[in-house]
Amino acid sequence: MSFVKFFLDTANVEEIRKVAEMGLLDGVTTNPSHAAKTGRPFKEVVTEICGICSGPVSAESISTDTEGMLAEAREVCSWAPNVVVKIPLIPEGIKAVRILAEEGIKTNVTLCFSPTQALLAAKAGATYISPFVGRLDDISTTGMDLVREIAQIYDNYAYDTEIIVASARGPQHVREAALTGADIVTMPYDAFTKLFNHPLTEVGLEKFLADWNAAGLQIL
Ligand code: G3P
Repeated sequence: MSFVKFFLDTANVEEIRKVAEMGLLDGVTTNPSHAAKTGRPFKEVVTEICGICSGPVSAESISTDTEGMLAEAREVCSWAPNVVVKIPLIPEGIKAVRILAEEGIKTNVTLCFSPTQALLAAKAGATYISPFVGRLDDISTTGMDLVREIAQIYDNYAYDTEIIVASARGPQHVREAALTGADIVTMPYDAFTKLFNHPLTEVGLEKFLADWNAAGLQIL
């Protein structure tokens, strides 16, 4: 039985802790911008996140040459057993992904904006592919169409690479990711909290409690 996994797209440990405490955190994706926002040493942040979340935690390489990516990948993987190396979808990155796959190091290929890019990542042996749906929506294309095409292509050839719906901005992206059958959706903390919201839930609860209290009932 498979289920859609929820990853948080942040390097903020307080946010990560809150979702982990609810028992709903399956993994974390960070990127260089998230890491920069913390104002803390990268290793310290990644290690702390890995202590909170036992699922995959993506830490991105910042080199743009294969040798540099490999060196950074081997370093970040030594910080915790659940670290996944995030590699940008450029030729040097795809070359690194192939080598890392042979070494048994898990990769999350990021900045994916086309089905053929996703095909390259899968052929190289990427563990995860991250299509950026929100950024495609930003330029007036339908980001989720890309997810659907990648899912079809991976299904056609039985690739094991898991699809992370990335750059998800809110409940609508999460809903569509689940309807599409994507493996994972990674979202900011703010988007996660919005999944709970429905005005009828709030109004309904208020009324139930008002009726209960007016009757002076008790459970404990
Ligand atoms: O996981 C991708 C994410 O880090 C980028 O999200 O909202 O900056 O497009 P966003």
